[in-house]
Amino acid sequence: MTRSYAQLIRDDRVHGSLYTDAAVFADEMDRIFRRGWVFVGHDSEVPKAGDWVTRQIGLESVIMVRDGTGGICVLANRCAHRGNRLCWRERGSSKLFQCIYHGWTFGLDGSLRAVSHKAGFERDRADMPLNRAGQVDSHRGFVFANMSGAAGTLADHLGAGGRELIDRLCDLSPTGNIRLTAGWIGHRVESNWKMWPESDSDGYHLDFVHASMFRAQPDNYYNDTVIGGESANVSQAIDHGGGHTELDLRPSYSRELAWLGVGRERVAGYCEALAAKHGKERAERLLWEGPPHGFIFPNLFLGEVNVARVDPLDVGTVVHAHTVIQLEGVDAALNRRLLRQSEAALGPASFIVPDDAIIAERMQLGFTGVPAPVNGAAGAGWIDLSRGRSRERQEPDGRRIGHISDEVTNRAFWQHYRDVMESRA
Ligand code: FES
Ligand SMILES: [Fe+2]
Repeated sequence: MTRSYAQLIRDDRVHGSLYTDAAVFADEMDRIFRRGWVFVGHDSEVPKAGDWVTRQIGLESVIMVRDGTGGICVLANRCAHRGNRLCWRERGSSKLFQCIYHGWTFGLDGSLRAVSHKAGFERDRADMPLNRAGQVDSHRGFVFANMSGAAGTLADHLGAGGRELIDRLCDLSPTGNIRLTAGWIGHRVESNWKMWPESDSDGYHLDFVHASMFRAQPDNYYNDTVIGGESANVSQAIDHGGGHTELDLRPSYSRELAWLGVGRERVAGYCEALAAKHGKERAERLLWEGPPHGFIFPNLFLGEVNVARVDPLDVGTVVHAHTVIQLEGVDAALNRRLLRQSEAALGPASFIVPDDAIIAERMQLGFTGVPAPVNGAAGAGWIDLSRGRSRERQEPDGRRIGHISDEVTNRAFWQHYRDVMESRA
């Protein structure tokens, strides 16, 4: 059955069956995750030739590997003989990939190098490489791939807004480079994957779902954004276009380094190194503004000092995997502090992700069993996303900006989703 996504996704509401319909999920894996750009990993995760990590693009397992030329390949994690999965671990370092079923051996670029008992091999080795992503590209070390090879350029996908979000994060490093080398923690959640692009960029729920965090940490800077109430809160929700969104907390910060939770005297060397890199004025602004809180469509969350991937497993299951940024060119104590901060925010016993996970699972239960509307808008199960529509504004550069509690970001996600799902039908 061909769905009309325009029927299910209106400008001010979407239908809950989009979270629960397995046929919708199958469409998404093809139209969004196979035919569009997807975040895969960071080049710091595979520093030397032969270093690899396993990831997924949609439902397909892939190997992101540093090849012998210094480039990064994204290979299907599936033997070209009969399809056995090649790598089982999350990371490793190898000269070659050897399949344990019949011993075929592949190079770091996916080429078939050797076949066991080769007298009976009747094909040309050159015709039997591992499948590779059709396109691989990166921005400031963030590696994106696309299996179909027909997704246009990464620069177009990220747009000015997506690039700016990544740049603002990387510019906090005195070398301009961050590393994602502290390891990932995955939370398996019984919710549709789309709950996470929505809730990671939802500014309306902070003082409800995360109230326990504010009670435990009254000086948490999220508090600054919510404590004054709706009218006093000057943080913003931003639609950067292309499905990329941001909760811009910068207008609410009342002190420098609020995002790091320390005073300047504790990180004097870092402040000096940043000034040496960017000049004093720019460094001062970076120290005040800190990292962004943004989502890059469809699966990359830049959660201030954290980075998260959204890995769908099936229509009702997802893994939200996160790690922490490590800054190049700073002392080990500062990077340790970032790690501790991340554990408190997103780890299994933390303040933020466990609470968001419960909400995501309750959302999923809320829409379980609700059928798609038969004719247009009638019927139950609609999600209202109208909050703040009439008070959002559009900037000359196209961005839409509203109050942090407005559903600007949710509408941005869904409107881009609708465009992709309709245009790639
Ligand atoms: S399935 Fe890999 S060598 Fe046969
Ligand atoms: Fe949350």
